[in-house]
Amino acid sequence: MDRNIDIEKCTLCGLCRMVCPAGLFRPGEAAMQFTEGAARLCIRCGHCIAACPEDAIQIQGLEASQFPPMTGETAGYDQLQNLLLSRRSVRQFEDRPVEKEMIEKILNAVATAPSGSNMGPGQVCVLSGRDKIDPMISSMIEFYRRVYRGMEGMLSRFMYRRMMGKRQFAALKSFKPIADRMFEYYDRTGKDPVTWEAPLLLIFHAPRNAITCREDAIIACTYAMLAAHAQGLGTTMCGVIPPFVQQDRDTRRRLRIPNKNIVVLSLIAGHPKVKFSRGIRRQVEVQWG
Ligand SMILES: Cc1cc2nc3c(=O)[nH]c(=O)nc-3n(C[C@H](O)[C@H](O)[C@H](O)COP(=O)(O)O)c2cc1C
Repeated sequence: MDRNIDIEKCTLCGLCRMVCPAGLFRPGEAAMQFTEGAARLCIRCGHCIAACPEDAIQIQGLEASQFPPMTGETAGYDQLQNLLLSRRSVRQFEDRPVEKEMIEKILNAVATAPSGSNMGPGQVCVLSGRDKIDPMISSMIEFYRRVYRGMEGMLSRFMYRRMMGKRQFAALKSFKPIADRMFEYYDRTGKDPVTWEAPLLLIFHAPRNAITCREDAIIACTYAMLAAHAQGLGTTMCGVIPPFVQQDRDTRRRLRIPNKNIVVLSLIAGHPKVKFSRGIRRQVEVQWG
């Protein structure tokens, strides 16, 4: 059976009906019932299971272990604000790995991330240790050198623009001064200007058929960033890595990223060498409606 309401347990309180975003419950005589077509229309958000005080609802594919009880302890606004305020991008790391338990806690946080139509937070490749990350760096630098060389010729510039679309082409063009500095630093020092010698790299990718695949992966990455920061790790989101991984067949194969997936964002993390003494409050332009 795809889904079930235990008539012994259901008290007809109607909470499931209230929270279901798809309106898939109706009251029956002895217990709540699923409406016609519930299996087809359900997005498996699990709100009904999470709300039911009697544990009366089962839906195939949603295990009871996925619904831990609320402990009542949550971060208040001040704690959250302090966490957010103390986060800055970190690009200097101690030369030691990130402990497995810390990585697991990051992934546990990702597992709580919301996603459009509840398609899931996408997928994440975990590269822990420089031996896993280093092999990509020179290919990545070469990739960007090739791209910028290609953008110099008239014909190839035209082709690139068509291939990437106007927006991405313009973004890449504006990134050129930073890329030049990156090449210069790499050539001069032989050091990694892409992942900043971080001991941990997380790459977020998602099936392109998910209507909000990009947004889902960005949210997942944000959750990971905050979970890492909450554990005292330093992090930086890296947008420079996904375009390389996306087009590099060997890397995709090595990381087992399915062809149907789009590589969206990445996060570097490690034990920080620096501690910031001040946070930052940015100007937010607000229009009260
Ligand atoms: C989507 C996104 C992509 C980014 N990509 C990179 C990157 O490729 N390399 C890098 O060093 N920093 C990257 N950053 C970090 C930004 O430069 C940084 O967040 C910004 O300067 C603000 O500083 P803060 O994070 O310390 O507040 C990225 C940030 C975001 C949000």
